[in-house]
Amino acid sequence: MAAPSNLSRSFTGKRILITGGLGFIGSNLARTLVGFGARVSIVDSLGPEYGGNRRNLAGIASRVKVHVADVRDSPRLPRFVQGQDFLFNLAGQTSHMDSMTDPQTDLDINCRAQLAILEACRRHNPTMRIVFASTRQIYGRPDYLPVDEKHPLRPVDVNGINKIAGEAYHLLYARVHGIAATALRLTNTIGPRMRVKDARQTFVGVWIRRLLENQPIDVWGGRQLRDFTYVDDAVEAFLLAATRPEAVGEVFNLGGPPPVTLQQLAEMLVSINGTGTFTVREFPAERKKIDIGDYYADDRLIGRKLGWKPRTGLRAALAHTLAFYREELRNYV
Ligand SMILES: NC(=O)c1ccc[n+]([C@@H]2O[C@H](COP(=O)([O-])OP(=O)(O)OC[C@H]3O[C@@H](n4cnc5c(N)ncnc54)[C@H](O)[C@@H]3O)[C@@H](O)[C@H]2O)c1
Repeated sequence: MAAPSNLSRSFTGKRILITGGLGFIGSNLARTLVGFGARVSIVDSLGPEYGGNRRNLAGIASRVKVHVADVRDSPRLPRFVQGQDFLFNLAGQTSHMDSMTDPQTDLDINCRAQLAILEACRRHNPTMRIVFASTRQIYGRPDYLPVDEKHPLRPVDVNGINKIAGEAYHLLYARVHGIAATALRLTNTIGPRMRVKDARQTFVGVWIRRLLENQPIDVWGGRQLRDFTYVDDAVEAFLLAATRPEAVGEVFNLGGPPPVTLQQLAEMLVSINGTGTFTVREFPAERKKIDIGDYYADDRLIGRKLGWKPRTGLRAALAHTLAFYREELRNYV
């Protein structure tokens, strides 16, 4: 648990709801909050396409209340939000490709259900503090780097459009209804409990799986720049955003250590692993159409306003993640 203990006082004994809490980032958040003595509940549909996995709660399962439920099931939402002090709203359809082949599901989860969650809060718990997981995908192909929060929103896929809507509803409810909501625009987040089964969440997951299974990694393109946030740093940003009054109604980018090309990332992973190979390949045509090119975030706003900064270097982040999956891979494939 990396979040500083001075944050813990804000959460001890508090009632927390995490949508998507069996997934990668949500479960890391749950683990930290349980460590702080919070009373954590989770709503997660555990669909096989997403990163939800009961194994993510190993060691804390008895201290977390899990509702296997779908945020699209709006009549159930009031009961989940009632009486909670904080909502970390992370349930989402995360695959960019799936959003193009099944746009309706992405719309229903990332847009329609987000409005229903906010309506449940407005009617049944309007004083709850909310932090929403938005994404850098909403910027599309950057006009300039690093990308700050003022960059135009011009997504390259359906997922980006629906995440804009989800984020915008949270900010609207803050402005108009006085709901204390904040949105964080996450960049590629990596760490223990990320989905490694396939590339639905991030290509890094499937690279890790292939390395550990002694298979070569496919690097598409290779020259694209990306930044990566280690999951503990992302968790700290959620906790800070939830506790600072100046975060209400605001949206912040999260970034990470200096960006690297995908080829440099593959080289680093192979060197940390001590063995492995990768092949640089042409981008598959259907992926090329929705590729955003180079991206890295300007995360100075959250630094200035909330004092957040990424603490974990990329090498350490990859080393922790590889070490986790060396022990745990069988529970995640
Ligand atoms: N991981 C990243 O790099 C990244 C980057 C940008 C934004 N995000 C956002 O962060 C959030 C969490 O992402 P993650 O990486 O932990 O993904 P994840 O797939 O591991 O977690 C999402 C969780 O939401 C659950 N879920 C999906 N649809 C649901 C539904 N209809 N009802 C209830 N639960 C549902 C899934 O079962 C899963 O456990 C998402 O909203 C995602 O858009 C993540």
